[in-house]
Amino acid sequence: MVEIVSEVKRIGEYVIIFTRVFDSGQMVTDADVAIVVEDVEERIFLPRSSTTHGFSVYTINEKNVIENLSGVYTLIFKSLFKKFKVTIFARVRDKTTKKVLLFENGRTREEKDPLDVIRTLKVFLGFNVNIDKIIYVDKRLEKLVNKNTRKAILQDLIKPRKKINSIEDVFVGIIDSMRYGSQEWVIEDPSVIKWLENLYKDNLGKETRIGGQAGIIANLIAILGGYPTVYSPVLSKEQAGLLHKNVFSLCPTRKPVTECADAKESKVNWVFEFNRTDELFNIRSNQNGRFIAGSQMEEYRPEWPDINNIDIDAIILAGLHLLKKKYRDGTTAEKIIKETIEWIDGAAKRDIPTHLELTCMEDEWLREKIVEILYHVDSVGMNKDELRQIAELDEEKIDLPDALSIIKYMKKIAKKFGLKRVHVHTLGYYINLYKDSGWASPEKIKKAMLFASDLAAAAAFSGSIEKMEDLEIADSISLSKTGLKEQEKLEKEIGMENGVARVGDYTIIFLPTKVVGHPKTTVGLGDTISGSMFVVECGYRYM
Ligand code: AMP
Ligand code: GLC
Repeated sequence: MVEIVSEVKRIGEYVIIFTRVFDSGQMVTDADVAIVVEDVEERIFLPRSSTTHGFSVYTINEKNVIENLSGVYTLIFKSLFKKFKVTIFARVRDKTTKKVLLFENGRTREEKDPLDVIRTLKVFLGFNVNIDKIIYVDKRLEKLVNKNTRKAILQDLIKPRKKINSIEDVFVGIIDSMRYGSQEWVIEDPSVIKWLENLYKDNLGKETRIGGQAGIIANLIAILGGYPTVYSPVLSKEQAGLLHKNVFSLCPTRKPVTECADAKESKVNWVFEFNRTDELFNIRSNQNGRFIAGSQMEEYRPEWPDINNIDIDAIILAGLHLLKKKYRDGTTAEKIIKETIEWIDGAAKRDIPTHLELTCMEDEWLREKIVEILYHVDSVGMNKDELRQIAELDEEKIDLPDALSIIKYMKKIAKKFGLKRVHVHTLGYYINLYKDSGWASPEKIKKAMLFASDLAAAAAFSGSIEKMEDLEIADSISLSKTGLKEQEKLEKEIGMENGVARVGDYTIIFLPTKVVGHPKTTVGLGDTISGSMFVVECGYRYM
């Protein structure tokens, strides 16, 4: 492994950069080294310099040559910049390694880019890892029901039960989600599962992929080069097979996920994806989204591993919406939530940042219980519908027409639960809110948000991110007009500057984001955004 060790010193108006290069611990005295110095605030580049002409992109200025003094690569230049960024490249055996340093107030700090953080932070995720069987809504679905069933569906739409006990309920769920936004209902009658399995086989099924917020985020981290640890109470070979080989699990010690797959039955969700032009029984959808019909399993409840025995830097929790009120052995959702809270408190004692990723929770009783967890975690992530569901526990029908109204409720939630961080993603912009101190700097947070926006754009475009090259498409996707308009409004309304504003005791960070016109799929996008952003911010927390 090639390592770059550098030191930056200022002596009067001169800056001196000393660099040493090590290859598997041995000092390299004949490396090619190039250095780019950049003034962070003004973004002015100083002449680029290198030891040889090998780095063709770097113009060599006679006054700015790196001297190789027996393996100490030294660059001296005149500069009055107070704060600048130094990027050092070293080429050894035809491989180039990069290191970024920030020089400020006479000190240097290493700057990691989001991918460095993703690759090095030890992230623990629990507990929903399921299989998503994706079906795109199309007219062929209508042919599966007769006239009477169709009538019953239209009748049930007036007051949906939000649970699945019949095939009609599946249709009611799809149409209700097309009208009012994505939802997830549990399947109570197993015969519906048989019907869904056949439906999936009958050419309507498009794809099987990893689902569940914990599974989706763990996979993403691994694809980007990290080694996350995921905990799922049910893990079959099929579930594990859909996860990247760099995902680990605990059984009870940390092992590659396939080695921990011991369940016979898989947790499966059927995901009906629709877009804003789809129609069923002449009812038109007015948004892109999904309806999820989820199987219910007695074993699908967390028994958290000993928090003091895991080596982790950040925790992402999700899946509690899948809890049953009562299990056959007498265990209740309340008991599991209480244990989850104790576990989170254990993480807080070890100063490990915790994040809860929300999802739409149709059952109001369960929603109220899950919300108790917000008093204990540091951070929460959600979309606009989920924000509405939480806010409506305290207020009747709330309205969220724009960014300012979203900020109002984010603030209320942060205050009520004592949260350090609240993140909301919408189609066109992201808003993050922070209680002062202890989190990353606004500059760093914006970097994490930008990274998340690129990932989401790439995933929306290609359906999922399978490899690093899939990210490249994000460069050609443009920013949302809605996001840019909301940005302008906030500049006027709350004096936001460069995406940062103070609102009472909180700092708000706003980012207009890239939006793909015709996304291939949208399931899991929110998890991609929230998960990647939280992890990168955790890596930046103390920088
Ligand atoms: P969720 O409903 O929580 O999975 O979140 C979906 C999020 O994905 C939205 O809030 C947007 O931020 C993002 N998103 C949805 N559609 C697109 C798209 N076409 N292009 C880019 N981002 C999208
Ligand atoms: C929920 C669903 C899961 C889906 C995920 C996407 O966790 O249970 O099936 O993959 O949301 O966000």
